[in-house]
Amino acid sequence: MKIMSGNSNLPLARAIAGYLEMPLTDASVRRFADEEVFVEIHENVRGEDVFIVQSTSYPANDNLMELLIGIDALRRASARRITAVIPYFGYARQDRKPGPRTPISAKLVANLVTEAGADRVLAVDLHAGQIQGFFDIPTDNLYAAPVMAADIQARYGDQDLMVVSPDVGGVVRARALAKRLDNAPLAIVDKRRDRPGESEVMNIIGEVEGRHCILIDDIVDSGGTLCNAADALLENGAKSVAAYITHGVLSGGAVARIDGSQLKELVISDSIRPTEAAEKSDRIRIMTIAPLVGEAIRRIADESSVSSLFD
Ligand code: R5P
Repeated sequence: MKIMSGNSNLPLARAIAGYLEMPLTDASVRRFADEEVFVEIHENVRGEDVFIVQSTSYPANDNLMELLIGIDALRRASARRITAVIPYFGYARQDRKPGPRTPISAKLVANLVTEAGADRVLAVDLHAGQIQGFFDIPTDNLYAAPVMAADIQARYGDQDLMVVSPDVGGVVRARALAKRLDNAPLAIVDKRRDRPGESEVMNIIGEVEGRHCILIDDIVDSGGTLCNAADALLENGAKSVAAYITHGVLSGGAVARIDGSQLKELVISDSIRPTEAAEKSDRIRIMTIAPLVGEAIRRIADESSVSSLFD
């Protein structure tokens, strides 16, 4: 087997390769003068089981093209099986038609990955579980919850915890985490978003008074959802609020917003390469998912169970 990487998250790809005690495949991704992507693989991959690691994070379109062209290069180099390892699957939020005459871009991107020549996909905390079905090839969706739960137990295990979903859509995810935390109680923030990019907290469902709240979500983008939820929880008597979010998209002024918020801390994974601002922030902590992804890759290569990772 071989592990190859695009440019979107080389530190994570290197850490995954480190977990598997193997080097990254020697390949280069370059740009023509007009920004066209060019991929060249400098070693033989004929007959190999190849895992190509690339998050389709910012700049989403460039990183997506790198992934597609990397898969095409592998296919034409006669790799036996190609697994697209997409720790952060961009475009996932466009998983349904929000109105008439709008696209379902998550499905389009899934088609592109498949058509490029991927045989399998390995993703982490897909925005919605049903995106797995957008791919007509085997797709494993890993959960960061076990890594988060271990961290929460170590840091906050001795406190009166309450797991909080920042919106109704995240309840299943929050319930799964609460179960891992000795069935901690659950609260829900009833969020209403009038326009894309804006969020408004309406109501807290559940008794949060005197509790240390752990907000859980798949994505933090502008940080609006999170900071508004933290304010609402504290207004309702919560003792403290920390957040665990798998994908730190953190666009625009998100880091400054988090730094100025009432959140005790924001813990994100390295599914997206953290920006310098995120790394410097003393309110943001980064937790690696390299062993989780590395172990899943090992099991796929060995044809053993991936789901038992979450038992
Ligand atoms: C939405 O359904 C997602 O799960 C996140 O809650 C959302 O993407 C966060 O966005 P923002 O940080 O911009 O409020």
